[in-house]
Amino acid sequence: MSENIIEIKGASISINEIKVLENFNFEMKKGEFVYIIGETGSGKSTFLRCLYCSQKFLEGTAKVDNFNLNNINKPKIQELRRNLGIIFQDFKLLEDRNIHENLKFILKSIGWKNNNEIDERIRDTLMKVGLEEKAKKIPYELSGGEQQRASIARAIVNNPSLIIADEPTGNLDPKKSIEIVNLLKKININGSSVIIATHDYDIIKSQSGTIYECCNKKLKKIENLSQ
Ligand SMILES: Nc1ncnc2c1ncn2[C@@H]1O[C@H](COP(=O)(O)OP(=O)(O)OP(=O)(O)O)[C@@H](O)[C@H]1O
Ligand SMILES: [Mg+2]
Repeated sequence: MSENIIEIKGASISINEIKVLENFNFEMKKGEFVYIIGETGSGKSTFLRCLYCSQKFLEGTAKVDNFNLNNINKPKIQELRRNLGIIFQDFKLLEDRNIHENLKFILKSIGWKNNNEIDERIRDTLMKVGLEEKAKKIPYELSGGEQQRASIARAIVNNPSLIIADEPTGNLDPKKSIEIVNLLKKININGSSVIIATHDYDIIKSQSGTIYECCNKKLKKIENLSQ
């Protein structure tokens, strides 16, 4: 078993035959907290989408959580995604049901059957994100920050080995943004590796973590943040 949760070598990514990133390497250790930064349109979201096979790498080799993404088939993609927690900028909560039911949907889809166990896991998870009072609320009855925390709850309810978050603070004020990052840090300390795409330089400056930047079609580790 590898010590790296993500290992990418000599990879390129294209959309409609236009290269978004080319010939890059990327490594992330188990338990690491990684930021992906870069200008709008530089490829952050595209890169994250490749990690959960919603987009293909064109060249090179890629491994995520010991799954080889080169030639991965549909059942294996489903298996990989069961080990991931994905947080989207626009939340993607199911709007026709409450937060409890949103989380239950995830557990059912990965094979949980016992309702008592499901309820207990959902209670624990909502407690972790501070939404224990909001289980019965429909997403539109929650504020932006609460919806963001609900989307984090949905991502962590299956105890993922890797959390992939695209702009998790994109819609929040600075104070709420720090709260969300602190929450992700806590989840990271409890064992999940976390990778975040963000524009939020204030957060990166004030929080620890490894930083990679998408720039000029490259993805590079940066040691010192100049901005
Ligand atoms: N579905 C798509 N069809 C065509 N081009 C796309 C598609 N998705 C992304 N692109 C292009 O790929 C490039 C990278 O986009 P991406 O969304 O990964 O950037 P980003 O760094 O996440 O930007 P932002 O900070 O605005 O979220 C952009 O030039 C974008 O226009
Ligand atoms: Mg993006």
